[in-house]
Amino acid sequence: MSTITIRNVWKEYGDLVVLEDINLEIAPRAFVALVGPSGCGKTTFLKMLLSEELPTRGVIELDGAPIPREPSVERGVVFQRYSVFPHLTVLGNVLLGRDLQAGGVRGALFGRVFGAQRVAAEKEARELLTAVGLAGAEAKYPAQLSGGMQQRLALAQALIARPKVLLLDEPFGALDPGIRTDIHVLMRKLWHERALTVVMVTHDLSEAFKLGTRVVAFERRRNEPTDGGRYGAIIGRDIQIWPTRVAGVQQRSDQISASGRDDPLPQSEQRRDDPALNGAAG
Ligand SMILES: Nc1ncnc2c1ncn2[C@@H]1O[C@H](COP(=O)(O)OP(=O)(O)OP(=O)(O)O)[C@@H](O)[C@H]1O
Ligand SMILES: [Mg+2]
Repeated sequence: MSTITIRNVWKEYGDLVVLEDINLEIAPRAFVALVGPSGCGKTTFLKMLLSEELPTRGVIELDGAPIPREPSVERGVVFQRYSVFPHLTVLGNVLLGRDLQAGGVRGALFGRVFGAQRVAAEKEARELLTAVGLAGAEAKYPAQLSGGMQQRLALAQALIARPKVLLLDEPFGALDPGIRTDIHVLMRKLWHERALTVVMVTHDLSEAFKLGTRVVAFERRRNEPTDGGRYGAIIGRDIQIWPTRVAGVQQRSDQISASGRDDPLPQSEQRRDDPALNGAAG
């Protein structure tokens, strides 16, 4: 069920130590928000979880076995920008996610899904587009979509391969605050409904605390100019969110209000159709 174990992982580029002896165990269906200053190695860490980069020391395991050394369908990814292909329609972009699943990059080019499978794939792609709020936009091209819509599309494209692990690198960083709040609600819903373990890099602490079950902060504690990059980032903080959020279990503390707040609502702000309130009243 997608436990990720990171054991004594180092990443170095030549003399530059980016990450230093990282140890982390990520439970199935956790939502880890990863924060830290620019350049501390967050993207590098995600790339290692994707096998786009390999650790220079240490091991990364998925469910007790070393992660495949090539990117594979159990790990999906969404970047801040440019995740979707401009020359494919919305529907084509999601179907590409399925073609990639069918056979990697070769699959996308040559091993396309045909016949009854194609029909089923298209049905699933349309359902997924509805789930992310893009019904009706199937025939549009990414340039005809807003930034928020493009990120919804990128999510649908990653999700159609049914990844066990979803990696997000500042996926909502470029969005306007209002649109961000909407997409936070969507992200929370997808995490509840699908068997996903999520690792999300963000620069935004409030986003980290709003969505995460756990907030992990990378930091470079020794950062003297004389160090010359000989010390990498370590895990400075590892905070479990309280009250605990559990995937699949909607809680009051899950509510994200239009103002972007997600603290439990005070009594006066409870909605009138709250069954508990109605019971008390009558
Ligand atoms: N392929 C590479 N070769 C050499 N150095 C690299 C390479 N990739 C990343 N680095 C270096 O590794 C360090 C960490 O980079 P990384 O992109 O992981 O940081 P980050 O935490 O994601 O930063 P940001 O918040 O700005 O996105 C940087 O010093 C960067 O220059
Ligand atoms: Mg980065």
